[in-house]
Parts: sequence; structure tokens; C-alpha cells
Amino acid sequence: MSSHLVFNVTAIRQDSPNLKTYVFEHNLRAKSGQFVMVWMPGVDEVPMSIGWQTDTEFHIGIANAGDCTNAISEQIKVGDRLGIRGPFGTSFDYADYDHIIGVGGGYGTPPMLNLAQRATELGKEVTMIQGARSKDYLLYEDLFAKLGVEIKLATDDGSEGHKGYCTDILAEELKNLDKSKKTCIYTCGPEGMMVKVAQMAEEAGIDCQVSLERYMKCGFGICGQCCMDDTGIRICKDGPVITGKYALEHTEFGKYSRGQSGIVVK
Ligand SMILES: Cc1cc2nc3c(=O)[nH]c(=O)nc-3n(C[C@H](O)[C@H](O)[C@H](O)COP(=O)(O)OP(=O)(O)OC[C@H]3O[C@@H](n4cnc5c(N)ncnc54)[C@H](O)[C@@H]3O)c2cc1C
Ligand code: FES
Repeated sequence: MSSHLVFNVTAIRQDSPNLKTYVFEHNLRAKSGQFVMVWMPGVDEVPMSIGWQTDTEFHIGIANAGDCTNAISEQIKVGDRLGIRGPFGTSFDYADYDHIIGVGGGYGTPPMLNLAQRATELGKEVTMIQGARSKDYLLYEDLFAKLGVEIKLATDDGSEGHKGYCTDILAEELKNLDKSKKTCIYTCGPEGMMVKVAQMAEEAGIDCQVSLERYMKCGFGICGQCCMDDTGIRICKDGPVITGKYALEHTEFGKYSRGQSGIVVK
């Protein structure tokens, strides 16, 4: 399943100084944590997580990172079209847990929002922790509020919420955890943050799932571009969601990845 569908952008939200959310009217039926390949004709095709999703629409939050994402930001207006291939990859496993704790940062927030949607539908207790450099970079507070989800915020400069890292808030959460509930911690964001979250979960003896990012080309397990270490794991097909425990077994996790030509990048 790798042919493109082409969708009109029906709305664009400027959600932070460097991230716009693109709304498409289509029931994508993606599972929480999955991603699509977004094709900007004449420029590139890049992997993007699914954010807010209903039976009639899905959202993709795109941060300006380079050629393709900048071209989308500058050129795509409401009514224009983008190619979408997918959804691809593994998804968050939440059905068996009572308490869902999400830890997201930057463009790791869209999959956390999707997880919060699905988990609240099942009546789970949901705690979301979001970190950003400052107040203006916090994402989707309106949509988390719509779900009635408790959201705890951390900013580097203290302009909103806790001044410091979202892992500081997670540490507090872990101290006060109700041990009678089956809890899982989910994380998506900068890899250094995810390493810390996975280590904290291991130390506390709590399950953890991480959503990893690697350079992708095919997006469905054929080209080998997104492999990590020598376990043969392809992040597009065997990931992006894997357990924190399995991620920590990989020497690459939090240390280096591979660029477009396969060369190791710190
Ligand atoms: C599973 C997954 C989900 C993602 N979800 C989101 C999201 O929801 N929102 C968001 O803004 N970004 C997301 N990203 C990151 C996004 O794909 C990259 O920022 C984007 O590809 C940058 O492309 P560019 O041409 O603008 O930048 P470039 O100038 O080409 O590169 C900028 C950075 O992005 C990396 N990158 C470039 N192309 C790719 C690619 N094909 N695959 C992976 N990394 C690449 C480069 O290694 C470099 O570090 C996700 C990545 C993955 C793997
Ligand atoms: S991107 Fe081709 S195998 Fe993962």
C-alpha cells in the first residue's frame, strides 16, 4: 500500500512560531503513533505523524526543519494539495493500561494528542506532560482541553508551567503514582528526552513506549534507510513505536542516526 492519495488542505493553523498544522478532510483510520509520508511535488517526501484525527478529518503538524518543510510552510495555502502515502508503522499499545502518561516535546506532541484522543475514548485516565522552549511553542492546549485531559507544562524559560524539563514533572508523577493502576509511559520528541524518559520508566519498573525518528525513504520496510544498529530493526516498519526497554538496548538510541546517504550523524 504505497500509492499516493492527493488531498486538499482545508485549513491551516499557525500553532507555534515554527509549526503549522494542516487539516485534511478524510477518514484516514490511522492508529495512534502511526505516520504518513507527505509529498511536496518537486521538492521531497517526508515522514509526518498523525495528530488530531476524527471520522471526517486528520491533522498533520509540520515544523520548519529544512528544504521540504520550509517549502510546505511558504507555498501551501488552504485549497492547495499535498500527496499523502500511508498510514505506516507500528502504533501505541494502550488498551491494557488504566493510566496513560504521555511525555511530548516539539513536533512529538501531535502523536501524543492522538493518543490522548484514543485513550479518553476508552475512558482511561490520561496525564499529558508537554515541554517547550517557551510559552509560544506549546502546542494544542485547546485540543487537549477539549478532551478534558490533564496537561502539565514545562518551559525552558519558565514563561508557562514548570521552569525546566518535562522529565522533572515526570519524576514528580512517578513519586505520586497509584500503584494499583496499570500505568504506561509514552514518549515522542527530542531523542535525548526520550532516552531519559525510558531510563526513568525502567528504574521505576513501569512500562514505556517510545516513538523513534530516523531518516526515511520508502516508509514501508523495503529500502533499509531507517535501520538502527545491527538488530535489523527498520524504524518505518518495526517502529516508529517500540518499547522503551528495546530502544535502550540499541547503542544508537540518543547518540547517532544516519543521514540521507547512510552516513552516521551524531
Ligand atoms: C516517524 C516520523 C514522524 C515524524 N513526525 C513529524 C511531525 O509530526 N512533524 C514534524 O514537523 N516532523 C516530523 N518528523 C520529522 C520530519 O520528517 C523531518 O523534520 C523532515 O523530514 C525534514 O525534512 P526537510 O526536507 O524539511 O529538512 P532537511 O533539510 O532535509 O533535514 C532537516 C532534518 O530532518 C531530517 N530529515 C530530512 N528528511 C527526512 C526524512 N525523509 N526522514 C526523516 N528525517 C528526515 C534530516 O536528517 C535533518 O536532521 C517525523 C519523522 C519521522 C521519522
Ligand atoms: S524507510 Fe525504507 S526501510 Fe524504512
